[in-house]
Amino acid sequence: MTDQNKSAEKPWGGRFTEPTDAFVERFTASVGFDQRLYHHDITGSIAHATMLAEVGVLTVEERDTIIDGLKAVKADIEAGTFQWSVSLEDVHMNIEARLTDRIGITGKKLHTGRSRNDQVATDIRLYLRDEIDVIAEELKRLQTGLLDLAEREADTIMPGFTHLQTAQPVTFGHHLLAWYEMLVRDAERLQDCRKRVNVMPLGAAALAGTTYPIDRSITARLLGFDRPSENSLDSVSDRDFAIEFCSFAALLMTHLSRFSEELVLWTSAQFDFIDLPDRFCTGSSIMPQKKNPDVPELVRGKTGRVNGHLISLLTLMKSQPLAYNKDNQEDKEPLFDTVDTVKGCLKAYADMIPAIEARADNMRVAAKRGFSTATDLADYLVKKGVAFRDAHEIVGKAVAFGVAESRDLSEMTTDELKRFSDVITEDVFDVLTLDGSVQARDHLGGTAPDQVRAAVTRARKAL
Ligand code: ARG
Repeated sequence: MTDQNKSAEKPWGGRFTEPTDAFVERFTASVGFDQRLYHHDITGSIAHATMLAEVGVLTVEERDTIIDGLKAVKADIEAGTFQWSVSLEDVHMNIEARLTDRIGITGKKLHTGRSRNDQVATDIRLYLRDEIDVIAEELKRLQTGLLDLAEREADTIMPGFTHLQTAQPVTFGHHLLAWYEMLVRDAERLQDCRKRVNVMPLGAAALAGTTYPIDRSITARLLGFDRPSENSLDSVSDRDFAIEFCSFAALLMTHLSRFSEELVLWTSAQFDFIDLPDRFCTGSSIMPQKKNPDVPELVRGKTGRVNGHLISLLTLMKSQPLAYNKDNQEDKEPLFDTVDTVKGCLKAYADMIPAIEARADNMRVAAKRGFSTATDLADYLVKKGVAFRDAHEIVGKAVAFGVAESRDLSEMTTDELKRFSDVITEDVFDVLTLDGSVQARDHLGGTAPDQVRAAVTRARKAL
C-alpha cells in the first residue's frame, strides 16, 4: 500500500483548495479492507460499461477498451503487482484510477451514470451472493455428515437429558438428528436471505438516479440479479440484507455452540461418550495427559464475535437518515469477518463430525445409571389400570429405594417391585430395559431406531 499520491490527484479533488489531512486520509480510507471486493467491483464495472454501450452512452470501441483495461487491472491484482493506494481511499477509486493510467482518457468515462454509492452496494451484494453459495454448500456437507453418523448410530443408546440430568434413554442417532433439524432451518434462512441479497441497486447513482438513458434490466441480467431495486434512495442506503445474513450467521453459530458444548462434555473423562480423533484436538504444554477438544471450544467461542457483528450492523443502521452516509463504510469489516468465521467453523465441523467415534458401552452404562426407564415403569402401571398420578408416586418410591440400594429399576426383583404395586408382574422387565424403552417410542419424531433410520431416509431425500 502506498500513500504517495497527492490530494490534487483525487477523483473528487476539483473543489478542494488544500490536501486532505494525512491522518484523515488514513482514517477515512477503506481500501485496507474493501480491496477484497476487487473481483466483484470489476465484474460490476464490466456490466455497467456493457449496458452504457448498449444504450449508446459509450461507443462500442470505448466499451471494449474499458473492458480490456479492467481485465488487465484484474490480472495485475491477481498477480500481486497492483499498488493499492490509501490516498485513493477505496477499492473503487483505486481500480478506476489504475484503469485510467492504463487506457487513458476513456477510463474516465466508466463512471458515467454511476456513483460509488450504488457501486459499493452492488459490489457487496455480488460478494455476499457468492459467499452465500459457498456457505450453503459447506452447510450441506455438514448436514450430510450428520445424517451418515446418525444412521451409523441409530441403535446406540445414550441417556437423554433435561436440566442436564438423566431423563429418558434416547438413541444417539436421534440426538444427532436434533442437531440436523437446527441446520435445516439455518439452510432455509440462508436461502431466504439470498433472495433479498440478489436485488440490484446499480443505477441508483448517488441517491436520485441518473439523467443518462440507462437500462437497469440489462445490468441486472448481466450480473445475474433477480431484478433491479425499486427506489434509488433505498437502494444506496439499504443494508438489511447484510443484517439478515448476520442474523442467519448468529443463529447458525448459536447452534454450533450448542453442538460444541455437548462435544466438550462428551469428550471429558466424566462422560467419555465419544472420541474425537487426535487431528481435531491439541495438547497442553504442561499437562502431558491432556487432549483438549479445541475445535469445538473455539467454535463455541467464535459465536461471540458473530453475535457481536450482528449487533454492530444493527447499531450501524439505527437512526441513519436517507440516503447513503459514510457510516455505511463500517458495514464491511463485520460482514467480512462473519463470512470468514462461519466458513471456517462450518469447514471444521463438516470435517470433524464424520470422524466422531461413539463409545456405545459408556453411553449405555450412563443411560442405566440415572433411572432413565422410570417413565416407562409409570406408563406400564397406567396400562395396567393405575392412574398416571398414582403411577408417578409409586415409581418415585421405587426410585428412592433404588437410590438407597444403589440399584437400577431393572436390577430389582419382581418381588421387590411388587412391594410398590401389586399389578407389577414378570413382564415389567420388557419395559425396564433400555432397548425396550427406546423401541417403544416408535412414532414420527420418536427415538426408536427404526424411526431414526426413516428420518435419515426422508432427510436425505429433502437434502
Ligand atoms: N468506501 C465507501 C464505502 O465503503 C464507498 C462509497 C463512498 N461514497 C461516498 N460518497 N463517499 O461505503
